[in-house]
Amino acid sequence: MNEQTLSMRLERVAAHVPAGARLADIGSDHGYLPVALMRRGAIAAAVAGEVAMTPFNSAERTVRENGQELRISVRLANGLMAIEPGDGITAISICGMGGETIRDILDSGKARLSGQERLILQPNGGEQPLRQWLMENGYRILCEEVLRENRFDYEIIVAERAGPVLYTAEELYFGPLQMRTRSPAFLVKWQRMLHLKQQTLSNFARSRQAVPEEKVQDIARQARWITELLA
Ligand SMILES: C[S@@+](CC[C@H](N)C(=O)[O-])C[C@H]1O[C@@H](n2cnc3c(N)ncnc32)[C@H](O)[C@@H]1O
Repeated sequence: MNEQTLSMRLERVAAHVPAGARLADIGSDHGYLPVALMRRGAIAAAVAGEVAMTPFNSAERTVRENGQELRISVRLANGLMAIEPGDGITAISICGMGGETIRDILDSGKARLSGQERLILQPNGGEQPLRQWLMENGYRILCEEVLRENRFDYEIIVAERAGPVLYTAEELYFGPLQMRTRSPAFLVKWQRMLHLKQQTLSNFARSRQAVPEEKVQDIARQARWITELLA
């Protein structure tokens, strides 16, 4: 993967960035996403935010090597602190991190959100708490995808602030739109997850150490939900 050939995962994220957007890519690492979008003429400007020095240097190098310093600002900053009021950001991507980390970045950076930005989020696990945050903060999920690459299941969640929205516990767990669309990748992911939950339950049953009943009940409930989903 590089700034010319994105991974399938980042390619799908790129597809959700509106044409002509002013993008903030938070946790940009190598900066491939904003640089690839700029090379294609798909965005007007970007901020690549990084909290760590090595990826920050890497993003700076990618931007420099592509002669995009005037259009892409690379900033060493924690989360949404990379966004400055004058940036006029219209889309924010936060990809390749746990859902809880993405939630914490959004929550601690709320003051930097105008509410007009499209959020394009690609959590690696922890989708449920992330969707919970979106719901509690008035974001409606516009689009969701599951894709498999390099033996990992990835989810993409696209949301915009659109007033109060209420999702059920199952919708927060599986994704409200994916539950309806039931794409082949989504169903295969949950077949795998069911197998894992069942394995965990039988490990609990065999364990010589007592497993808290609450934990057993939680996994059993998840296994029941998945079984009902796949029925
Ligand atoms: C696994 S990489 C993902 C890179 C790229 N977004 C992608 O999806 O391919 C995660 C990056 O997020 C950065 N990161 C983690 N927490 C961050 C935060 N609070 N603010 C900015 N960057 C963060 C890490 O330094 C790391 O470079």
